[in-house]
Amino acid sequence: NSSLYHEQYRPQFHFSPKAHWMNDPNGMVYMNGTYHLFFQYYPDGTTWGPMHWGHTTSKDLIHWEEQSIALYPDSLGYIFSGSAVVDINNTSGFGKDGKPPMVAIYTYHDPVKEKTGSSQFESQAIAYSLDAGRTWTKYSGNPVLQNPGIRDFRDPKVSWYAPAKKWIMTLATQDRITFYSSPNLKQWTKESDFGAAKGAHGGVWECPDLFPLTYQGKEIWVLIVNINPGGPNGGSATQYFTGNFNGHTFTPGDTLTKWIDYGPDEYAGITWSNTGKQKIFLGWMSNWQYANEVPTSPWRSASTIPRTLSLKKTDGVYRVASVPVKEVDKQIATSQTFKNITADFAHQPAAKPLKISLQADASHDFELTFLYADDQKVKVGYHASTKEYYIDRTNAGEHSFNRSFASIHHAPRFSGEKEINMTLILDAASVELFADEGLTVMTSIFFIKSPLQVINSLSSLKNIRIETLNG
Ligand code: FRU
Repeated sequence: NSSLYHEQYRPQFHFSPKAHWMNDPNGMVYMNGTYHLFFQYYPDGTTWGPMHWGHTTSKDLIHWEEQSIALYPDSLGYIFSGSAVVDINNTSGFGKDGKPPMVAIYTYHDPVKEKTGSSQFESQAIAYSLDAGRTWTKYSGNPVLQNPGIRDFRDPKVSWYAPAKKWIMTLATQDRITFYSSPNLKQWTKESDFGAAKGAHGGVWECPDLFPLTYQGKEIWVLIVNINPGGPNGGSATQYFTGNFNGHTFTPGDTLTKWIDYGPDEYAGITWSNTGKQKIFLGWMSNWQYANEVPTSPWRSASTIPRTLSLKKTDGVYRVASVPVKEVDKQIATSQTFKNITADFAHQPAAKPLKISLQADASHDFELTFLYADDQKVKVGYHASTKEYYIDRTNAGEHSFNRSFASIHHAPRFSGEKEINMTLILDAASVELFADEGLTVMTSIFFIKSPLQVINSLSSLKNIRIETLNG
């Protein structure tokens, strides 16, 4: 529907629902050549409300086709965040005629119980689909995991732990993560708790994920923990731990607080299941500080670009790096490279989403300005003295909806390389920054009414490549 893409602030290269409210990505699962993305959805308004699971699918992680709503609230409550798996061995018994079921594991949030002051208003439940996510049947034995008396008890991320042939549920339980295991997705046994005194605790822990990545042949486990508020630039953000998981407990390898994305606008990010060794991450491109107030209509919120995760080591510390999935490059329409920029650089790009790659000397500051009509701008740069990247949206269009929105956000550089490599993805209302092969990532949204006019640099750059992307 091409008229859709002419709406003010509508992303051209990111998923956004046709209409109404979206928050967290849910149930991301790959099956038979299709990437499924479910999402927290309120189909009766453009602010948060009784939660459903919306559904969209893609063959290439770039072009999305919105499907009908997958899960509706019922007498047990709203359908909060969770995950989905392909139950290849039919451990659940939901499969039919040799076809494995897709099973969703989600949180019921009971607003009636919550009102009565009970702490037991969140529990875990399952549903299955035999037609690749199109239609769903909720399990008659729900909930499969009752609330033990913990207020925040939600967002189950389930994965198959092959060494012990069991499912592991990674659950956010207020100020920590609780691991459960199950042979069949129906009966769950508590394994352990992690994190009450680890990492950042400026807000409630939500939307976790657990998976291994390899570094030079060695398996390292990554535990993602989203947190709101308490992020490095205020509000919601995604922290993670690296260490070991032995099927029962998670042991971190260091005591650092690490963030997958330092910008203000990546939240609830987790990874797709059933993608083999490759781990693909996607987040909600907003922040609870102002998500309900951003000036878009008739929809609210978009997803980040899907990102491939890998492990790197800097100063003896394992870090998770994210870069845009390689499918992005298949959408490049035009490409122009400018070398050895020393003075005032100005380029007028086509009115399209852009991928910008630059190289700069790390011993100098640099700044790139995206200039729009009426002197509105987004600035992206680097301060050599503090070794910090930044995105400045202080003069970037509409911001009156929230006092803290018009600000500058900073992120540390971890690489010691002499040369900075940076990739930016610029869409109608967002910029995503990937520096040093994804060691530092920042996502920032903005609301400028007019199209981009000029890309400007006053500082020296070794190279800048500007590519237009087909949306
Ligand atoms: C995170 C979150 C989850 C919850 C969902 C409700 O943004 O608060 O913890 O399941 O949103 O919509």
